[in-house]
Amino acid sequence: MRIGVFCSGGDAPGMNACVRAVVRTATAVGHQVVGIRRGYQGLIEEDFYWDDPSARAMSLRSVSGILQRGGTILYSSRSEEFRTDAGQQQAADVLRRHGIDAVIPIGGDGTFRGARALARLWGGHIVACPGTIDNDLSGTDFTIGFHTAVKTAVDAVDKLRDTAESHERLFLVEVMGRASGYIALYTALAAGAEVACLPETPTDVPDILAQIQMLKNRGKKSILVIVAEGDDCGGAGPLKNRLEAAGCPFSMRVVTLGHVQRGGTPVPEDRLLATRLGELAARSVIAGETLVMAGEVHGSLTLTPLEEAGRHKPVPREYVELLETMAN
Ligand code: F6P
Repeated sequence: MRIGVFCSGGDAPGMNACVRAVVRTATAVGHQVVGIRRGYQGLIEEDFYWDDPSARAMSLRSVSGILQRGGTILYSSRSEEFRTDAGQQQAADVLRRHGIDAVIPIGGDGTFRGARALARLWGGHIVACPGTIDNDLSGTDFTIGFHTAVKTAVDAVDKLRDTAESHERLFLVEVMGRASGYIALYTALAAGAEVACLPETPTDVPDILAQIQMLKNRGKKSILVIVAEGDDCGGAGPLKNRLEAAGCPFSMRVVTLGHVQRGGTPVPEDRLLATRLGELAARSVIAGETLVMAGEVHGSLTLTPLEEAGRHKPVPREYVELLETMAN
């Protein structure tokens, strides 16, 4: 069997570990893996990665030394062309022309939508892996890259606490996550932030202000507010303006962590998850599974239909309550 593997959408630490697991698993049992560079765009443009020209496939050597590397050796993209019927048709033709029987896309909900669109035009098998820092997918407790992104954000917030404390300031720290509050909530809990503004809960400025005032009256010298980029207040900048206008008693600064959360060497949790899911995806696609995502739920490996896996996973209510208890 010839299996195509590619990364699509925002890169995530651990994608390389996943590619490595796919190549090693499939090659070990006599199958070939074709690397497709730059996601769906590279597929349309026949941008393949094969360093074994006789087999026109990836060799085992091509995945040596990548387990610990951030980013993706296959590159990634958000393809506008693949959103069109012509682009999807072209991608399906390329797969047929190159004798590719199955693909393993690594990415998020947009990648899964693309995979389902491809399946309408191409009869090969598709088993996806959840690769996104956002942790917004159903069918897996965690997505590949999430733990590393949280570690990066927590490290940054720990540093900001030092300067906030020295200057008796309030910092609003904006984190990524698109429409999901997972990164914000986990970062707030792990860094001991006083407030988290999440897309899943309404942001009430008078309420936040009352809490800040209460903490100041209790002698608190610094405040850290973690703001998810998808929060209804519009991000850390607009929230600062509203708090200022409402009479916030602290001097405030805004820090946007941005793409720094997508980079860096993957933490062991992401390497392990990526290895387990890459192996499961390869094994499953060889066994004939299709249109499913490899995931891990409560420590067990699972396969979830792509349509269901792409549905938004809300943050756990008990974590929101835990933060409220800790912050007060
Ligand atoms: O999905 C991953 C993610 O990093 C989101 O958290 C963020 O909203 C988005 O990608 C940013 O996308 P881009 O890199 O295309 O600006």
